[in-house]
Amino acid sequence: MTSSEQLRARAESVLSSDVWNYIETGSGEEISLGEAEQAWQHWRLRPRVLQDVRSVSTTLDLLGHQLTTPVLAAPTAFHQLYHPDGERASVAGATDAGSLFCLSTRSTTSFEDVGAAASGPWWMQVYVTAARDIAAAMVERAVQAGASALVLTGDTPYLSRRARAGRALPLSDETAMVNSARHLGDRDLSHLEDDAGITVEVIEWLADLSGVPVLVKGVLRGDDALACLDAGAAGIVVSNHGARQLDRAVPTALALPDVVSAVAGAAPVLVDGGIRSGYDVLTALALGADAVMVGRPAIYGLATGGADGVRDVLAGLTDEVAHLMGLAGVRSLDELDASYVTPAW
Ligand SMILES: Cc1cc2nc3c(=O)[nH]c(=O)nc-3n(C[C@H](O)[C@H](O)[C@H](O)COP(=O)(O)O)c2cc1C
Repeated sequence: MTSSEQLRARAESVLSSDVWNYIETGSGEEISLGEAEQAWQHWRLRPRVLQDVRSVSTTLDLLGHQLTTPVLAAPTAFHQLYHPDGERASVAGATDAGSLFCLSTRSTTSFEDVGAAASGPWWMQVYVTAARDIAAAMVERAVQAGASALVLTGDTPYLSRRARAGRALPLSDETAMVNSARHLGDRDLSHLEDDAGITVEVIEWLADLSGVPVLVKGVLRGDDALACLDAGAAGIVVSNHGARQLDRAVPTALALPDVVSAVAGAAPVLVDGGIRSGYDVLTALALGADAVMVGRPAIYGLATGGADGVRDVLAGLTDEVAHLMGLAGVRSLDELDASYVTPAW
């Protein structure tokens, strides 16, 4: 078993089967889920020799943040399902690893408490609610609490049908809606559903409202990436939502080159989906990603070790990628380019 498989097995052993199924499920026939990890192995590395690799650096500047790792924590919902310290532990663990935490709209910790627990940078992932004033109020509070960018999730006009959607999750409504319910007033819960009518115009609305950069997550096509940038996006996250939205959507390992080539360096490109090892990280960076995000692995770390577990997952991937960079003759992230990868065969 790889260390990632061992961690996954440990997480399964400490979580209830309902929570485990919620984490692990994909949508539809789970075809994209089955392909996500494997697709990174579509690529092979083309190392250079006789480079001086006594010192290898994984540092980068991402939208003004100096990070010591290109491995970030993807936004995932409901962290108190996995560990009593919830998102507080996740933001602390990511910071300890020199990384950056992206908080889900569906956080089980208030923005204010996440801000108070954070000693490093964090972003807020945004679902735009049917009642626009609720989304606006949430974004304003998150930015006030310290979120330094918004990550607009663009691939959830509706919630997909999930193959292994478990029974009711062990979360009170109060905890599950800790950031949203207070803005509902007398209105019913339908006002918190995602607005299926949003278009790229919402990017500028969010940027004006918040005053912070807006990245768009869920992009799988170069033309879409360009449309988002034209509409004011400050970055792109190539993602198929961990295979939880449109099944049979292309694996991100195969979608990434088209997006990188369309964006052509105009803005940072991040990627997530099935990234489990330093090899996957190195491949993604060589294909042109500026950074990667991990979803389920960070949850496994949280479930098994709280803040330290999250830190260990992110730091472990960082150590591994630094080691592999050296073996590939690469000293710094900006040296990595598409010349270091080729399709397998
Ligand atoms: C349990 C779980 C909850 C998630 N919740 C959200 C969410 O609230 N918002 C969002 O944009 N993406 C969400 N995602 C998708 C992740 O941000 C990310 O795209 C995905 O997990 C990456 O794939 P990986 O898990 O293979 O690393 C969720 C994923 C999982 C597994």
